[in-house]
Amino acid sequence: MGQTLTEKILDDHLVEGELVPGEEIGIEIDQVLTQDTTGTMVWLQFEALELDEVQTELAAQYCDHQTYQFDFKNTDDHRFLRSAAGTYGAHFSRPGNGICHNVHKENFAAPGKTLLGSDSHTPTPGGLGQLAIGAGGLDISVAMGGGAYYVEMPEVVNIRLEGELPEWATAKDVILEMLRRLSVKGGVGKVFEYTGPGAETLTVPERTTITNMGTELGATSSIFGTDEKTRDYLARQGREDEYVELAPDEDAEYADEITIDLSDLEPLIAKPSMPDNVVPVREVAGESVEQVIVGSCTNGGYEDILPAAKMVKGREINKKTEMIVAPGSKQASEILARQGWTAEMMAAGVNFSEATCGACIGIGHVPASDSVSLRTFNRNFEGRSGIEDDNVYLCSPEVAAAAAIKGEIIDPRDLADELGDLEAPGIELPDAYDGSKADLITPEEAVDDELVKGPNIGNAPIGEPLGADIAGEVLLKMEDNITTDHIIPATSDILKYRSNIEKLSEFTLSRVDETFAQRAMDSGTGVLVAGENYGQGSSREHAAMCPQYLGIEAVLAQSFARIHKANLFNFGILPLAIDEETYAKFEQGDDVEVVTDVAEAVEAGETEFTVRVNDDWEATATLDASERERRILKAGGKLRLTKEQYEQE
Ligand code: F3S
Repeated sequence: MGQTLTEKILDDHLVEGELVPGEEIGIEIDQVLTQDTTGTMVWLQFEALELDEVQTELAAQYCDHQTYQFDFKNTDDHRFLRSAAGTYGAHFSRPGNGICHNVHKENFAAPGKTLLGSDSHTPTPGGLGQLAIGAGGLDISVAMGGGAYYVEMPEVVNIRLEGELPEWATAKDVILEMLRRLSVKGGVGKVFEYTGPGAETLTVPERTTITNMGTELGATSSIFGTDEKTRDYLARQGREDEYVELAPDEDAEYADEITIDLSDLEPLIAKPSMPDNVVPVREVAGESVEQVIVGSCTNGGYEDILPAAKMVKGREINKKTEMIVAPGSKQASEILARQGWTAEMMAAGVNFSEATCGACIGIGHVPASDSVSLRTFNRNFEGRSGIEDDNVYLCSPEVAAAAAIKGEIIDPRDLADELGDLEAPGIELPDAYDGSKADLITPEEAVDDELVKGPNIGNAPIGEPLGADIAGEVLLKMEDNITTDHIIPATSDILKYRSNIEKLSEFTLSRVDETFAQRAMDSGTGVLVAGENYGQGSSREHAAMCPQYLGIEAVLAQSFARIHKANLFNFGILPLAIDEETYAKFEQGDDVEVVTDVAEAVEAGETEFTVRVNDDWEATATLDASERERRILKAGGKLRLTKEQYEQE
């Protein structure tokens, strides 16, 4: 039987297990990437493992999430990250050089290689045939030390693209259409493999917009095969020698197949406050817009900003609307500036941000209260923009620019009819991506050879081995779709403590209940109860590390998001699945006791755990864990286990 492209790459990298969907496999990792908010812990954990240098083919440390220096903490973190990259042999991308996914795509992403990154949008380079997976920081530390990465073998789904995008429809509309059809849970346990004649019509930057936002579907990864478009992109980046031809076998068998006819697509938009709340733009036309932002790792490339630039050139942004361009990389902004597009946009009234995540995580450009903001980003979870009751819509750069011109949401086709002289900009790549590499420091150019830690940088916490008892109060009962932003908000006033777990823990779940952290500290132990899809969103391992630090021993949820569940194991917290009826019966404040010797049951491979509540009723909770995950739980987390293993070697 033929293989899918995903299976071929996994097969090439397999070190443990079999490629059977749902079974755990261990794979070798070629490249790793990490960013500044997750990176400090990655390196502190790498330090705790007492290894001398990075063992993967390539490691890259980016500074993109917290590039604004409000006080010394971010600057100290950046200095620490540069020192860690230099000490251990990783590339270092300076703050302002761009978002990790964009800069990685430009400089390092390579077809056929595996990439593990401590950021949930790591699958972005799937658009050029790289199998890229987002994971927790500790997984990155272990992979950098040469350890395998363990993941459930995903189902591979064929997304067959037919036809060609009509004018004004874009790659963003392809992924919004996927979200409209499949929802934010539709990709859990899956890799989406894009094939068919429609895929061949898309350029690499269009493909990476789609693979980037596969994360919003909950997918393990998304990938395209390679072809002349891939070779062409790599050639323009000066890396044609890294081209490898990759395709699924003709008789490859997929778990499922979905067909999208590109020629049927029209401009779409995700309404507040979920990326799958997708409707045609015309359905929400007329809504007044106060802010428009073009940028982020989804649509912050040269090819994304250029269409907006072409649309606003020679016009003026509506007086009641502010338009901001936040480039995904300095390479993109440098080329746009050299070509004169930056000046054209400035003349039209556009403001520029440095190449950073910025507004995507509520750092700068917070929308006005009770206002509409249109963004080309990938997620619009409530409060992520930095204001609780935000109204963030997600769309293509074309739809964003049309709204900036009109001052209200409008289908760009209708704006073109209204204005008479507005042409569909289409997609255009520069002849050469000839931006400077001044902000990239290679391992050979390293300026540090030892770690430099400021006063806000602590140590990686190491958990305690699992005991016999889990008993405590339900400290919080939460609803469906709790995100990692709810657990540890990514806003600058909080995330500046990312390297100081004791302080950061005080903010745990503060967006759900401000009293939670204090109550957890007072009780010293306890459990959490949640609905479906607990921990969706980012790979932020602080969302497991801080609850562990506060003494949370188990999370009882109807279901878990993939990366977060792995993070719960990694930090020694039991992820127990409960059914809807049990969830409904739980109340905050209930006394919960797991009626068995937990450490023994975990070791023995038990899957069902009886939970006694208030000495009154009992329910069954399920532990779905591999043997390896059970070993991690038992040891008190992956850091302690890995350290013990290295010490024994
Ligand atoms: Fe940054 Fe937002 Fe992408 S935080 S990595 S631009 S999703």
